[in-house]
Amino acid sequence: MPELMNEPKEKVIVGDEIFVPLLTEEQIQKRVAELGEEITKDYEGSVPVFIGVLNGSFLFMSDLIKCVEIDCEIDFFKLSSYGDAKLSSGKVKMLKELNCDVNGRDIIIVEDIVDSGLSIKYIEELFEENNPKSIKVVSLLVKPESLKYKIKIDYIGFNIASQFVIGYGLDYAQKYRNLRSIYVLRKETE
Ligand code: PRP
Repeated sequence: MPELMNEPKEKVIVGDEIFVPLLTEEQIQKRVAELGEEITKDYEGSVPVFIGVLNGSFLFMSDLIKCVEIDCEIDFFKLSSYGDAKLSSGKVKMLKELNCDVNGRDIIIVEDIVDSGLSIKYIEELFEENNPKSIKVVSLLVKPESLKYKIKIDYIGFNIASQFVIGYGLDYAQKYRNLRSIYVLRKETE
């Protein structure tokens, strides 16, 4: 019988590249619950709109809002800056727009990962034109050493090194998003 896709693995082999565990399902779920609790406290009395940036944020968004104990709404929109490449092209394209009206609302942008910060900068500038009451950002992962733009990330799941990661929403050429843990590309020296 083939190895089950979502059993915890010592490594994930993609062609001639090897990915090793970085964050387990348990570590991710514990931190997501903590973020949900923090957001619940901060937004008491408000009905925030969680806006997920597709595709990567879909699992994090789903788990996060299950840990939020106040009324909230959700929406998604899609940008593409990376395509199937591992490094940012530095360009952002809008592929799916928002359905909701952000005017006067408390907005929480939900990202799976902040790398250069270009996507967040672009999104914040776009939303600000529509007069939201507030905009905050929650990202499961942040690569502090890769940040190139001056942005504020209000809620951070984990700060990680500037390495390529897959799983829990994060892809390699659109695959591996369904892994429950997060794996990192093993360095040549390891
Ligand atoms: C990834 C990720 C963020 C963005 C972060 O999306 O989900 O949206 O890149 O990088 P930045 O801080 O340098 O802008 P990607 O364009 O790979 O699309 P995906 O979510 O569909 O995988």
